[in-house]
Amino acid sequence: MMEFNESIAKELLNSLALVLKTAQIHHIDNMAVTNSIEKFLSILRGHFQSEEVKIEIIGDYFYINDNRIRYTSEYIFNYDFLMREMRRIKLGTLIFHGDISFDDMRNLTIGILSAGLSEDPFNTLMNAMKEIENVEVMELKKVKEDETRLEKKEIIKRTYSSTVLLSKDVFNKLKAGERANLKKAKRVIGTVVDQIIEDETMLIGMTTIKDYDEYTYYHSVNVSILSVALGHRIGLPKKALSRLGLAALFHDIGKIDIPLEVLNKPTDFTEEEWRIVKEHPQNGATLLLNLRTIDELTISLIIPAFEHHLNYDLTGYPSIRSRLELDLFSRIIAIADQYDAMTSARVYSRVPMSPEMALSTMMERSGKQLDPTLLKVFINMVGVYPIGSLVMLDTKELGLVFENNPNPEFIERPRVLIIIDSSGHQVKGRVVDLMERDENGSFKRTIVKTLDPNKYGINLAEYIL
Ligand SMILES: [Fe+2]
Ligand SMILES: [Fe+2]
Repeated sequence: MMEFNESIAKELLNSLALVLKTAQIHHIDNMAVTNSIEKFLSILRGHFQSEEVKIEIIGDYFYINDNRIRYTSEYIFNYDFLMREMRRIKLGTLIFHGDISFDDMRNLTIGILSAGLSEDPFNTLMNAMKEIENVEVMELKKVKEDETRLEKKEIIKRTYSSTVLLSKDVFNKLKAGERANLKKAKRVIGTVVDQIIEDETMLIGMTTIKDYDEYTYYHSVNVSILSVALGHRIGLPKKALSRLGLAALFHDIGKIDIPLEVLNKPTDFTEEEWRIVKEHPQNGATLLLNLRTIDELTISLIIPAFEHHLNYDLTGYPSIRSRLELDLFSRIIAIADQYDAMTSARVYSRVPMSPEMALSTMMERSGKQLDPTLLKVFINMVGVYPIGSLVMLDTKELGLVFENNPNPEFIERPRVLIIIDSSGHQVKGRVVDLMERDENGSFKRTIVKTLDPNKYGINLAEYIL
């Protein structure tokens, strides 16, 4: 079997989405549709050759030939579209056997479109499939999650991806010396704030997404979400939360001038490189100072950019003479920043710390580097078992903490993604709720202990993404 190539698999999914998108807008024989079908077929033929290609939806993810496809910011809207369309007609699996002709693909597209308009979508599709030789379809397996939950998840996912796109845009614009669109930034962060106020758990869950290729963008978004959530927990009003979110998004903006080879360096920095890296707080502050007229908002962005590597006890960098206390936003952002940085891989070769380890490292810094009160609130927020922790259950199953229990009384009973079953076999994403009880009324599963994922050779990102 050919080695699996993830980037080609992503392109394949994207081009399938484009086939359906164009066919929804144009006549099936319109050039735009014909071209997108050709494009899809050329990827299929060129890279998968005569191999069978299976595209499957399991839970919230696409799998191609049993490989989970990670979400990528550039394709995320097309993936969402494809996921929605396939779910709508109950299409869970598509298998392409060997050589697919243009007509097969054209007929499949027609079948999918007419299924979308039918009362009985999957059977309509099955009927259309009689004409098509080398393609097989299977019905979507029932997912346990109910519709409203899924819908909510989609919304959260979209917020997260638009925030990543925003952060990418702002960084690149400023790097090119262009003006960044602060209005848009305000709007996007406004949505983040609204969603945190409504229900923080899902958005916090999204911050387990770390991407080493685009580390700085994702990191800025994660720090922004975690900061807003922490700010909300300590009762900051909405307007302050928006400012805090923006300040956190821009906290590392001074890094735009550091060459990527330095930022993504897998080995330790040289003295000279350290000197450059340590300049990013001043550079960030200067950049923001020149960005727009000085008003209250600008000031609330500048201070954390300057102070986020200063410690609670005023050690850290840049070195300052003042004896004043650090700004509240700076203290919040410092906590979110350290947590996200420690739990991220940052560079390909580095192994990230487990959330639990990161929190205990931060505990050691309480009162010295980090504000002790804020840290307590933060630890409470990310949970006794932070999202992403590897846990062993009393059923001998191993799982990853997927979502905190919204009821604070049962904080030790989160929802867990089972990755190894009780007989030690690896299993694919099944989420269980530790609140579930058996017929006698006792809990079906309970966490026995947490484990270090690195010891078990488990790559958290692989499961959570
Ligand atoms: Fe920084
Ligand atoms: Fe940072």
